[in-house]
Amino acid sequence: MFRKIISGVAMVIVTHLSYASVVDEVSYANTSSVVSKNIHLDLTVQFEQRSLDGYVEHHLKWLDDSAKQLVLDTRDLIIHDVERRVGGKWMKANFSLSDRDAVQGAKLTISLPSQADRVRVYYASTPKASGLQWLTANQTAGKKHPFMYSQSQAIHARSWIPVQDTPSMRLTYSATIRTPKELLAVMSADNSKNEEKDGEYHFEMPQPIPPYLIAIGVGDLDYQAMSKQTGVYAEPSVLASAVAEFNDTQKMIEANEKLYDEYRWGQYDLLILPPAFPFGGMENPRLSFITPTVIAGDKSLVNLIAHELAHSWSGNLVTNATWRDLWLNEGFTSYVENRVMEEVFGEERAVMEQWLGVTDLKHELKDLPKDDTRLKLPLEGRDPDDAFSGVPYVKGQLFLMYLEEQFGRDKFDPFIKQYFNEHAFQSLTTEDFVQYLEEHLINKYPNIVSMEKVNEWIYEPGLPKDSPNPQSDAFAKVKVKLDGWLSGNKSLESLKNNSWSVHEWLYFIEQLPDDLSKDKMKQIDQVFNLTTSTNAEIRFAWFMLAIKNDYEIVNEELKEYLKGIGRRKFIVPLYQSLSDHSDNKKEWAKSIYQEARGGYHPLAQGSIDKIFK
Ligand code: BES
Ligand code: ZN
Repeated sequence: MFRKIISGVAMVIVTHLSYASVVDEVSYANTSSVVSKNIHLDLTVQFEQRSLDGYVEHHLKWLDDSAKQLVLDTRDLIIHDVERRVGGKWMKANFSLSDRDAVQGAKLTISLPSQADRVRVYYASTPKASGLQWLTANQTAGKKHPFMYSQSQAIHARSWIPVQDTPSMRLTYSATIRTPKELLAVMSADNSKNEEKDGEYHFEMPQPIPPYLIAIGVGDLDYQAMSKQTGVYAEPSVLASAVAEFNDTQKMIEANEKLYDEYRWGQYDLLILPPAFPFGGMENPRLSFITPTVIAGDKSLVNLIAHELAHSWSGNLVTNATWRDLWLNEGFTSYVENRVMEEVFGEERAVMEQWLGVTDLKHELKDLPKDDTRLKLPLEGRDPDDAFSGVPYVKGQLFLMYLEEQFGRDKFDPFIKQYFNEHAFQSLTTEDFVQYLEEHLINKYPNIVSMEKVNEWIYEPGLPKDSPNPQSDAFAKVKVKLDGWLSGNKSLESLKNNSWSVHEWLYFIEQLPDDLSKDKMKQIDQVFNLTTSTNAEIRFAWFMLAIKNDYEIVNEELKEYLKGIGRRKFIVPLYQSLSDHSDNKKEWAKSIYQEARGGYHPLAQGSIDKIFK
């Protein structure tokens, strides 16, 4: 389908072409004239300068005979030189770099009087790169060697590679990476397991991927296999606990394959990052990047692995064409994640996780601007990071759960499987999906779900009235006990003699009133030791409640927590809640932030700077 976007309205001009020409508002790339089908990176990792230095070579396919330019996305890069290859000969090429736009970065326009088949850009990244984090030895587990890694989603690849930075196109890549000799480099590619640590590493990613999935990590890393297809890269002192935590990954692959056909990427490894990583996980192909805060010792948070793995189908194989369509990646992935959790850990756990997700979403919906509660996101020149919320995740998941409920798994599961297979290695817009859904599900089994209903889910704000409403029996039992204590009929100790899962604890904390007395908070803490829990999710939920209830006994622990981890999902709401609470708490939080800021990722810094501006 060929579409032209006129002030936000998609007009269908010619139908039955391929799902190609898409307008990406946050990329300068002229992908309708020329596309980069493959890139080779040759980069040296310079810890002292905090820079990746070298070149990228683009292999070009020209789509428009009269085109004379290649336009690339960049941000905060130093461009040394550009060369073009014509008829086998390399020559200098003229280029210009525009001023830096706050959202998109700087446009690199390369003049090509004849249509070169290859273009090389010699460049260096700067310490400002929004897509890289440079950690000192002190910020790692081993405290001996520095660490660096990339986080390219959504539009940060351009801060370390001059590239056509839009998910509407795909490329293959190869790389030569030079590092200090004692360190290992890994990428979202083929990571040769037998490579000696010698400071020069080679990579190959033969399957075409969108540029936001190009990724690199460099540090004092060891590898341990968990199964024929899965393994973990981590700092030596973290490796054993990570392997013990994540050794169900192979089972998760098999559960996915049973539902949605083969895993198409060969190997699936995990890279455990230092605690400063701003996300829970990132689905870099063949090598998901994972926060160490999910190593809880009891596998209670491994739905994160199910999530990143599920992206191997939704996101990495079938990709959102623009960041307005993020729900196609994250909503599908949240849905698949939960189906896999059900297969591997049973229905009870899967339903508890649904309940917790939906409850978070409902809280979030109260505060979000109405437009950001639509599945198809209105970006209008905003940075995709600024529109980030639980909506594409959980509302997207609920929409798919709704379809599953209405059609039944016997019809819905094959539909999703076929959707993945028919769109493998392609990018789709929301409209492409809606059309596919109409043809292959709605019209195929008439009178079950109307297109009005579909459009309500996708284009209207908030949740439809008949949105699925997960109910957990296990939680209902927790509720009975909690109500017994709150009404004075039961002692806290009588709640204690059971073995609640982490999920039940999270539910328990969620259900506690926001205006508990300090005394009651203290009683709970004395009996259950929540302040010193070793589970990052439990501590987060407890600290949030402690702030609301002025339970200041947590303060020292809270301060250490804020200084010790950089995961945005935890630290941003904590800083926000402290700063909303009172001037005193705001000042206190600001002083913690001043100490901690240098250790946070640029993305986390950006979010928290806004709180204290
Ligand atoms: N792809 C996302 C992370 C992301 C999304 C980065 C948008 C930048 C822009 C990743 O798969 C993710 O969703 N991570 C979640 C996992 C959770 C939902 C289980 C996270 O980091 O918390
Ligand atoms: Zn995700």
